[in-house]
Amino acid sequence: MKFLVINGVNLSRTGAREKGVYGEETLEQINAELGAFAHAHGHEAEFFQSDVEGEICARLGQADGNYDGIVLNAGAYTHYSYAIRDAIAGIRVPVVEVHMSNVHAREEFRKKSVLTEVCKGEILGFGKNSYKLALESFWL
Ligand code: DQA
Repeated sequence: MKFLVINGVNLSRTGAREKGVYGEETLEQINAELGAFAHAHGHEAEFFQSDVEGEICARLGQADGNYDGIVLNAGAYTHYSYAIRDAIAGIRVPVVEVHMSNVHAREEFRKKSVLTEVCKGEILGFGKNSYKLALESFWL
């Protein structure tokens, strides 16, 4: 199967920002491990990161019909981007929402996701392994 892993706003600073919350590894390192994980299971993963809401929407639109699944960590956009929500609702590729942190154990505003309703499912709170668990959900 072929997957697309999308990381949204501020995720490019993983490994540098709030290390106690998001860990010490860079997004590049996390993606490399994830790509190898997919490959080891006979699958293929591509990666995209953008801080720009419209670019994420455009990438979701382009993904339509071209992937078996999408793993999406939209970062803070999760909590208020109706544009990303509509982009997900408008494609046929199933999307799994991911968060490294347990958003329910943090600030009040993080408890609400406007994306979950249009996603296949949600995985959160397992650090970088949230991405692996989300990928795995497509073939288990
Ligand atoms: C995050 C949680 C969001 O609330 C936050 O804005 C992020 C990262 C996570 O992976 O835990 O940037 O999506």
